Amino acid sequence: MSRPQLKLIVVGFLPALLLLLFQGSRLSKLSENERFLLLTAHPDDECFFFGPTLRALSPQTDNLFSLTVSNGNFDGIGRTREPELRSSLAILGIPPERSFLLNHPQLQDNFTQTWDPEIIAEATLPYILGNRITTILTFDHLGVSSHPNHYSLYYGVKYILASIPPNIMVPRAYALITEPLIIKYSGWLSVPFKSLARLNLSRDANAEGLPTLRFTSGISSYLITFQAMNQHRSQMVWFRWLYLLFSSYMWQNDWVEIHPTET
Ligand SMILES: *[C@@H]1O[C@H](CO)[C@@H](O)[C@H](O)[C@H]1NC(C)=O
Ligand SMILES: *[C@@H]1O[C@H](CO)[C@@H](O)[C@H](O)[C@H]1NC(C)=O
Repeated sequence: MSRPQLKLIVVGFLPALLLLLFQGSRLSKLSENERFLLLTAHPDDECFFFGPTLRALSPQTDNLFSLTVSNGNFDGIGRTREPELRSSLAILGIPPERSFLLNHPQLQDNFTQTWDPEIIAEATLPYILGNRITTILTFDHLGVSSHPNHYSLYYGVKYILASIPPNIMVPRAYALITEPLIIKYSGWLSVPFKSLARLNLSRDANAEGLPTLRFTSGISSYLITFQAMNQHRSQMVWFRWLYLLFSSYMWQNDWVEIHPTET
């Protein structure tokens, strides 16, 4: 990291340091027998969007797995990004033996392509059943950034929930709530904003009710997420530094349960 960047971070976050020093992640409603699978679309989703959740879960369970669908080959550097993903996940608490990469030919990194939910289901089910996953964590119907690969996973998971045979235990699934723009880019301020304003999180007609899980990062988890992000060397263009400063997803994740699609 260069000097000016460091200065920006220190100045920008001094109040956050004070506010959040004693605020850690809270974990409630989750039993010890849970086996979690984080389902992401591209390398770096794990640290850009899911840091607070991974940091809350990973110290408490060895049953936390990650499945990344594509190797992020849009610019042709997917192979470079694979080890970056492994390092980032390891820092966030998921070692290589619990992190999987699909790289299916019909599920490739492309912001013009929606992925077929049936293909997603077919390709991911062996990982879900094989690891006896009880809770799937993925994007919601807006995918935080409206990337079609992101929100395709939401529809893929809906499809999975509906298609798992009834004699097998159907996992629960949660979607990461896409916040409104003002919240999305208010950085650490989003945490008090959301609490103080008691934002009505079901304002969106398509959302499925109130958040059922919330994970909040303290300053140490924020720094670890930042360290994970730093593993994605091939991706650290200037606007990512802005994201780091202004994104609320570096601080808090709100989740809502996904229900099976009627097919
Ligand atoms: C992305 O998809 C479009 C069509 O939807 C295709 O024309 C383009 O070649 C794809 N890009 C890559 C890098 O695969
Ligand atoms: C939140 O919004 C939903 C849908 O717009 C509405 O049905 C619900 O009553 C609101 N809840 C509160 C607490 O305002």
